[in-house]
Amino acid sequence: MSDQLNIAMIGCGGMMGAHVNGFRELWNHDLRNFRIVACCDIRREAAEAFADQIADFQGTRPAVYTDVETLLAQQSDLDACDISVTHREHHKVTLPCLQAGKHVTIEKPLAITMRAGKLMLDAAAQSGVKLHVAENYRRALSERANNWAIRTGRIGEPWMVFWIDAGLRRWYWTWREHRMEAGAGWTLDGGVHFADLFRYHIGPVSEVYAVTRAFWPHRYRDEKDPSAGLIDVDVEDAMIATLKFEDRPTVGQWTLTSACLGEGWGKRAVFGSEGMLDWGMGVRAGDVVLSRGELEAEFLDSLSEEEREKYFPCGIFDTIAHELKEFIDAVLYDAPMETDGVEGYKAEAICYAVYESAATGRPVKTADIEALAVEEYQRDINESLGLV
Ligand SMILES: NC(=O)c1ccc[n+]([C@@H]2O[C@H](COP(=O)([O-])OP(=O)(O)OC[C@H]3O[C@@H](n4cnc5c(N)ncnc54)[C@H](O)[C@@H]3O)[C@@H](O)[C@H]2O)c1
Repeated sequence: MSDQLNIAMIGCGGMMGAHVNGFRELWNHDLRNFRIVACCDIRREAAEAFADQIADFQGTRPAVYTDVETLLAQQSDLDACDISVTHREHHKVTLPCLQAGKHVTIEKPLAITMRAGKLMLDAAAQSGVKLHVAENYRRALSERANNWAIRTGRIGEPWMVFWIDAGLRRWYWTWREHRMEAGAGWTLDGGVHFADLFRYHIGPVSEVYAVTRAFWPHRYRDEKDPSAGLIDVDVEDAMIATLKFEDRPTVGQWTLTSACLGEGWGKRAVFGSEGMLDWGMGVRAGDVVLSRGELEAEFLDSLSEEEREKYFPCGIFDTIAHELKEFIDAVLYDAPMETDGVEGYKAEAICYAVYESAATGRPVKTADIEALAVEEYQRDINESLGLV
């Protein structure tokens, strides 16, 4: 491997815009050990527009492709792929890249189902290439500071986690509203970030008991103009779960819902034996009262030069730039990855434990989800993809 990673961006939609910004941020800080050599999207105009944006800062324009097979066949200098496609396409796009010996970073969640994700882990292992999940939330200053507060015992032993987001959304969010395209609703799509934070801040979740509901069977095509009509949807809009953590007494209450008329509310907090950490307020522990800003400032002050460079390289605070740098360094220098494919698989297992528990009406162990031993909810999705 040379000291430059040649990357193809596959899936030039909404989230990939943030990846362009992340690459630009690295480039502008003289972190230039990569080249974007190709942009690929089934919508040619999207790939062309991204190629133009890349050319603006990189100086060279990536080649444009409309399918992965042609990209892999023709782009002979390709080392790695940065993939950000719709959930149903994750494994379909990633598997040929891995099988062609390309390193892959893929947007969360790893795959549309656990079975599809397992195929990706196996293919990466077989080809001996890196598989990385573009999980960015834990890289934010706020989450690094939260993690530091918990790790250094500011609130004692974590006892109870409350993660409650209750609000209202009735507008139509394209493919995300359809199980066969997205796998599931917000508990998977956004929830996998939160599941990753549970693992990062507290540790592995061992068991989940959950109930899900789809209260609104449709969304407004245009929320400002109800006469534009309604579109049928089939993902959940309410989820209430109890989480048990592994090898410790910690329990969690996890609620995500977008079906609350009137007034939404929320609480993200960990209560421990010595105090509490609140995502809004900061730390309350005995006489210690730290606002969020004070907590983050204290955390930054505590960092050695080396730690500061590790978390916020060159003073960059963009979490997408962080995850892209982690991937590039892992491939070029065999540096460790915080969120590799296995970590992504385990975070996703917490989400699927929710859906499988709701489908079976009983508590579900995450180990059984990882082992593909419970697939009641996922079965028809897997069948539709020819995965069983
Ligand atoms: N990390 C985050 O905070 C975050 C935020 C939003 C989305 N995401 C994730 O990013 C991914 C993409 O989401 P999005 O919001 O950008 O969706 P999107 O619909 O805006 O973009 C998806 C793109 O993929 C393209 N595409 C679909 N199938 C393809 C294929 N076979 N080959 C090439 N291109 C293909 C589409 O044409 C589209 O341009 C999802 O996995 C989503 O969960 C992550």
